[in-house]
Amino acid sequence: MAILVTGGAGYIGSHTCVELLQAGEDIVLLDNFSNAKPQVVNRIKELSGRDFPLYAVDILHREGLEKIFAREDIEAVIHFAGLKAVGESVKIPLDYYQNNVSGTINLCQVMARAGCKKIVFSSSATVYGNSTDVPFREDSPLSTTNPYGSTKRMVEDILRDLCASDPEWSACLLRYFNPIGAHKSGLLGEDPNGIPNNLLPYIAKVAVGQLERLNVFGNDYDTPDGTGVRDYLHVVDLAIGHLKALDYVRTHKGAEAINLGTGRGYSVLEVVKAFEKASGVTIPYRIAPRRPGDIATCYADPSKAKKLLGWEAARSLEEMCADAWNFTRRQQSGESQ
Ligand code: NAD
Ligand code: UD1
Repeated sequence: MAILVTGGAGYIGSHTCVELLQAGEDIVLLDNFSNAKPQVVNRIKELSGRDFPLYAVDILHREGLEKIFAREDIEAVIHFAGLKAVGESVKIPLDYYQNNVSGTINLCQVMARAGCKKIVFSSSATVYGNSTDVPFREDSPLSTTNPYGSTKRMVEDILRDLCASDPEWSACLLRYFNPIGAHKSGLLGEDPNGIPNNLLPYIAKVAVGQLERLNVFGNDYDTPDGTGVRDYLHVVDLAIGHLKALDYVRTHKGAEAINLGTGRGYSVLEVVKAFEKASGVTIPYRIAPRRPGDIATCYADPSKAKKLLGWEAARSLEEMCADAWNFTRRQQSGESQ
């Protein structure tokens, strides 16, 4: 039997596919390539030394999904497919609700009809909203401040209701903190189109000279150096968390929300320093106004992941920066094209 990975050609999905294949799992990869390059699929094959079926299908396309479940023997789904840009979600909310919420409903309906009732879902620390009560625990109050966050919260509710309605379902709602870094090989990583919104891809573009300098959004937060603090985790640690979550849905029923973070926060300036050390490149920056909607500090209480999944993040900030730099340099020199 195989694991269907939706959004498997994306940033987190591609790293997870490699880990699944290397662990001996069979996979079926689904992606509509709205935010991924088709050559990523070849890199997954190259890195794992394994082949697998690929479906260029949209989760909104029910017949396409039905065909996959008719042809393939799917045991469980790891569901990454979705739109993820917070700012864009404010501008085109209907696209976000349709893609992330309707798409997931579609997927679950097809899964239920096929008798496949195990799902690992990509939720986000964004469901904790602008609460200041860190570290965030799974039972902390939830709130959202933008349509993207609302889609994650809605899908969590939908999966909880689904599990309550039918005791055969099991769902792991993984709340990721801030994934960064890249595969050691430099063949997989995060390569957003246009000017990046997130810190690490922005720093990486400054390092290779594509952007002039980093704007540090605020240095007057109530944090040790005044800049925002986040819980950055290596994307490979995150990928491994999905293998643990897969084991969990195989052996448990019901819905469970679980944080995936390191439990340690780093400030923007600490990340800049770590990146400079890893790359040997100076990152010019200036202090800019706070970004609307940002909170001062966000980090996980990761103890539930350790207790239920036996998972802990293992890779350091230095390793995250070194791997991100290696990937960016290879992209820049055309080696990964
Ligand atoms: P990504 O954009 O790199 O990957 C998502 C993949 O899904 C892309 O390959 C895209 O082409 C595909 N996709 C989108 N809509 C689709 C559809 N309708 N049908 C089929 N494929 C579709 O993003 P990522 O960073 O790998 O994130 C994966 C998941 O994790 C997303 O659901 C995201 O919201 C969530 N998440 C990401 C972060 C983060 O910081 N990267 C944090 C928390 C949660
Ligand atoms: C972003 C998302 C959030 C998502 C999270 C994890 C936004 C508004 N929020 O938040 O929904 O859950 O990623 O994927 O996109 N920073 C700068 N300069 C920059 C970019 C960022 O100073 O050019 C600072 C930010 O103010 C923040 C930190 O760096 O303090 C991290 O920012 P970012 O990478 O965007 O992640 P989040 O703010 O956690």
